Amino acid sequence: MKVKNICCIGAGYVGGPTMSVIALKCPNINVTVVDLNKVRINAWNDENLDNLPIYEPGLSEVVSKVRGKNLFFSNEVDAAIDIADMVFIAVNTPTKTYGEGKGMAADLKYVELCARQIARVSKNDKIIVEKSTLPVRTAQTIKTILDNSGNGVKFEVLSNPEFLAEGTAINDLLNSDRVLIGGNQTPSGKEAIQALVDIYSNWLSPKQILTTNVWSSELSKLTANAFLAQRISSINAISALCEATEADVDEVAKAVGTDTRVGSKFLKASVGFGGSCFQKDILNLVYLCRFFNLPEVADYWEQVIKINDYQKHRFARKIISTLFNTVSDKKITFLGWAFKKDTNDSRESAAIYVANHLIEDGANIHVYDPKVSESKIKADLTYLWELNGLTKTQINNKLSQVFVYKNHSKALNKSHAVAVLTEWDDFKNFDWEKVYHNMYKPAFVFDGRNILNIKKLNEIGFKMYTIGK
Ligand code: UDX
Ligand code: UDX
Repeated sequence: MKVKNICCIGAGYVGGPTMSVIALKCPNINVTVVDLNKVRINAWNDENLDNLPIYEPGLSEVVSKVRGKNLFFSNEVDAAIDIADMVFIAVNTPTKTYGEGKGMAADLKYVELCARQIARVSKNDKIIVEKSTLPVRTAQTIKTILDNSGNGVKFEVLSNPEFLAEGTAINDLLNSDRVLIGGNQTPSGKEAIQALVDIYSNWLSPKQILTTNVWSSELSKLTANAFLAQRISSINAISALCEATEADVDEVAKAVGTDTRVGSKFLKASVGFGGSCFQKDILNLVYLCRFFNLPEVADYWEQVIKINDYQKHRFARKIISTLFNTVSDKKITFLGWAFKKDTNDSRESAAIYVANHLIEDGANIHVYDPKVSESKIKADLTYLWELNGLTKTQINNKLSQVFVYKNHSKALNKSHAVAVLTEWDDFKNFDWEKVYHNMYKPAFVFDGRNILNIKKLNEIGFKMYTIGK
């Protein structure tokens, strides 16, 4: 089967960049990305490419080449589904905040709504592709909904999990380590798999395209993220031991990572991992293990999350204890809010939890991030406090302790301490002599990403704390 029209439901961090690259590499396929959110679609259609809703290096160049030619962004969901041969589901699947599985299971509400909408609208056979990360066996749920509420047309459901990392998404899409396509091992399932293989073959070699059964594909995504996050929690656990023993975590990571069996990537100690995927996917994995009565396996993976929480709290406690056991009414400057550099995404960023901890102790948090907006920063904290059951008045009181700047000098002026929460390259090039001059003394720097030049900053006079040193 030759795919001519693709529809992608969900114009987010995954749907937007993935479809832009497919459109770029497959000029004969029309790609329409739809979303319920009108503001987001308008931003994707904005003539000024600086206003795209997602900041991702290289994305605006790709969009400028294909938008209006074979890439379209629209709110007309039904129409786009109707003409598509292939529909990608890339809506968000956050951790449930209510009811059964609260705080653990993935909320599949939006995926189910998509399946029902596809079933209602479809008048011809279609291939449905799960892009969102989903618990194992969700494809079956989707298929059941499609087959029971549709108009008698045939659907094949594929799993094609996303492995792109934010900040490097375009490069990850263009030069993927692999793409994974899972489908039913029936003649029509294999035909559907081939249709998607043909799309990726426009720019990837056969050895970069893996095909599996649908359950392996779904589980591989959860497992891949769990393994990656596990490496970070492992090195972060060792960072605490390094601080107690005067070993240096970066030296340990290098020594361990030069063993080719281990590998050097993803061993950077930090204030803790964030992002929309790692925590959500591991919680989901833990939930699945408990559901299938595998408590030992569940406990094993849950520990990855517990160490991550420990690391964030340990960093916040270190700030408080170093600042003479209280940060009440002190100005703490946060450099960075995003969960990593080169993205405006702050979902589950360590900054949110460290800020919460310090605000609880009375600190005033002054934030500078090159890409995350003031409204997003305040929304992140408000969301956490609402989840914790705080009233509107309590939330407003806490928000009065948060200040956001577009300019780093103002954020740093008359500060008691600086905390680096994101590894933005710019921070290394600040005029640190001037920063020191304008701060209260002793001037403390807590580098949660180990990016600053410790020797130089110590010479200037800063009191430095770094992770695992
Ligand atoms: C994705 C996922 O698909 C998730 O499973 C994965 O783990 C992380 O990446 P992402 O693209 O990062 O999500 O999410 P987001 O930026 O929130 O985009 C999802 C979009 O879907 C939003 O723009 C939202 O408005 C849209 N949406 C959601 C719909 O159009 N319809 C719905 O019913 C629900
Ligand atoms: C991750 C996976 O890498 C990607 O394959 C999957 O599709 C989605 O989830 P993402 O969350 O976008 O991607 O970014 P990633 O680069 O994995 O970073 C996640 C978090 O781990 C960030 O907060 C980052 O700062 C942190 N991290 C990463 C470390 O603390 N140390 C490291 O060595 C690497």
